[in-house]
Amino acid sequence: MEGAEKPETSILNWEGVSVPHDWAIYGPFDEEIDKQTYFNEQNLEVVASEKTGRTGALPFIGVGWYRKTFSLKDFEPGKKALLTFDGAMSEAQVYLNGQKVGSRPYGYSYFYFDITPYLKQGEENLLAVRLENRPRSSRWYPGAGLYRKVQIILKDEVSFKHWGTFITTPFISGRVAKVNIKSKVDGENIRIETLIKDPSGKIVAKHSASEIFGDEIEQNIAVPTPEKWSPDSPHLYMAELKLFQGEELKDEISIRFGIREIAFKPGSGFLLNGNVTKFKGVCLHHDLGPLGAAVNKAALRRQLEIMKDMGCNAIRSAHNMPSMEQLELCDEMGFMFIAESFDEWARPKVENGYNRFFTDWAEKDVVNLVQATRNHPCIVIWSAGNEVPDQSGSEGVKRAKFLQDIFHREDPTRPVTVGMDQVKTTMESGFGAILDVPGLNYRLRLYEEAFEKFPQQFILGSETASTVSSRGVYKFPVEKVFNKTYDDAQCSSYDLEYCKWSNVPDDDFVFQDDYPWVIGEFVWTGFDYLGEPTPYDMVWPSRSSYFGICDLAGLAKDRYYLYRSRWNTSKETLHILPHWNWEGREGEITPVFVYTNHESAELFVNGVSHGIQTKNNQSNQHRYRLMWMDVKYEPGTLKVVAYDKQGKPASEKEVHTAGKPHHLLLHANRELINADGKDLSYVTIEVVDKAGNFCPNANMQLDFEVSGSGTFLAVCNGDATSLEMFHLPSMKTFNGKLVVLLQASKEKGAIKLKVKGRGLATAETSIQTEFCIL
Ligand code: GAL
Repeated sequence: MEGAEKPETSILNWEGVSVPHDWAIYGPFDEEIDKQTYFNEQNLEVVASEKTGRTGALPFIGVGWYRKTFSLKDFEPGKKALLTFDGAMSEAQVYLNGQKVGSRPYGYSYFYFDITPYLKQGEENLLAVRLENRPRSSRWYPGAGLYRKVQIILKDEVSFKHWGTFITTPFISGRVAKVNIKSKVDGENIRIETLIKDPSGKIVAKHSASEIFGDEIEQNIAVPTPEKWSPDSPHLYMAELKLFQGEELKDEISIRFGIREIAFKPGSGFLLNGNVTKFKGVCLHHDLGPLGAAVNKAALRRQLEIMKDMGCNAIRSAHNMPSMEQLELCDEMGFMFIAESFDEWARPKVENGYNRFFTDWAEKDVVNLVQATRNHPCIVIWSAGNEVPDQSGSEGVKRAKFLQDIFHREDPTRPVTVGMDQVKTTMESGFGAILDVPGLNYRLRLYEEAFEKFPQQFILGSETASTVSSRGVYKFPVEKVFNKTYDDAQCSSYDLEYCKWSNVPDDDFVFQDDYPWVIGEFVWTGFDYLGEPTPYDMVWPSRSSYFGICDLAGLAKDRYYLYRSRWNTSKETLHILPHWNWEGREGEITPVFVYTNHESAELFVNGVSHGIQTKNNQSNQHRYRLMWMDVKYEPGTLKVVAYDKQGKPASEKEVHTAGKPHHLLLHANRELINADGKDLSYVTIEVVDKAGNFCPNANMQLDFEVSGSGTFLAVCNGDATSLEMFHLPSMKTFNGKLVVLLQASKEKGAIKLKVKGRGLATAETSIQTEFCIL
């Protein structure tokens, strides 16, 4: 697949793959890949150094070709065919039957071509796509190949224009909502008949329109007693549009939409359906850990389920266009969304980055982002960029205005932000003042000044925290410190380690809680991602991030419970750290933290009380965590009893010192999956002792065998320094855990997973697959 120069003449052996596909995720990891020597301005560095693993150390660089032959039975005169890409990494050049159809450089952009003139009727057609990824073109792992959906859409020539229908809800009251539908159409003498179905599928409105202005037909439809969309109740309506020419039905489309109102107001901040709402958000890069960039809806759904349980209500697609699948899920599951476009404008962060394309492509890329996704109710803000170096200088202000105007032209209903890190500069240049929503990345000490200087009267924490930690790793002494490194290339999970430019979660909480004009935050990041292994970007073999609230396998780090204790107001959180297996630390100070939504709790070590801690204002940490700083380690049991406001015991939790690894516990996130060849079940495997206590230090090689109606797809242990490949059925547990991904085949039945580890009884589990509509 890789390296061929001309698809038609190549005699290479082509590898059979299915799209979405990421050619680089199969590795191997190699420190030489995309080694970058530079000083990172964003990270406040002043001296150049050699960085390994910045883009994941996976072989994404180079040229790749994809070919597919197909014939279109239904294709006849009067029809047209569109070839659509939800993204192609990157610098796509598309050929059909040897003729160049078009190109699209930005790997995250959605695009399509009308391939009608290139198609052969009744014969085989050959589609070929050339992709090229250059070194020094990204700041994280971008993936490689046709990593998102590719489709052919057949239409009548008389039809709705692709992405040409825009649904908004400009008036909403308890009694009625006005649903405005603007449809761009091709053809004359056209009538559109529209049905609107409510969230239960009942038809609640019918409408017909034929008045056409230019190429647009507009409908205003009254929907009675609207059920509004929000993260807590993500009600979705369906608009079914039929396009007739005379009496002949020529085209039909169904578009899901939500009825919801967004407003950003000086003083009160962000309002959703009239209620002041704070963003409890996370930033997410697009890779799915062991699956790389290849999009998979079940993987995305699992991420969102984990975030939902944490109480998260919003996602920012850092720093590029999100997948359609992610937006569909956010609509359904109830997450607000910042859809971002660029990490660079005309000025580079990396030599071969988007700066090469900005002038020619920025408008086209923004137009496609908005037109393709604007009917998703989850999107509440557009982002024109992240920490773009163009923040300084008058050109940058012009570019900000240029991009914001395009967003407004294509969608007058949503505001635009840019994540700013050069806050002082943007105060002076006017860059921050022109944005609809001033987004600050970190820089807490400048929040108050920005609030005073910027005219909007509210501030969004568009990127926050960048706290670093490794699941299950604890370092001593316990101290709040930045840029700290250790010999094992891990970070401490006491959640007190951060970067020079960033902070720990509690510091953000204070601003979120104390200032009504701070409209929320987007934590960097919900999950670890491939690449950017700060603070170990110069230390091989680190190859993935430490920023995640969850690790690369999606397993919660301790920090998950700190956010959950604050964000999930409907469920109890009571979480103890660290683990209690510290052979060799007997008698040494081993602080104990508790993350809980209770105000106070008492800690017992082997039955002996270490007193009650209550949240207080002594420091930012004391406001949000309960901490016993002088506990001395002795093996046995840590027990915490949480008290309610009346001082009565409300709940308790224990952590035990575990004995030797004895057996494995398997837990599937889903026991029943769809027999569609795509769906996934994630099986978490934990090493436990004879009594079933979790063994937090177990790093044991496990082997996997999968049989039945599915396959072994990947495995991940969340260790940012592991060089074991995700697609091979063997891996070491990292601090007692790992996750195996099973994929359904198209046959209904059972998938059996067998797990073997030296000295451990073989463990088995079984997942059912069935044909079901998800
Ligand atoms: C920000 C940047 C992110 C990531 C993060 C790490 O400045 O926007 O992409 O690099 O820092 O802390």
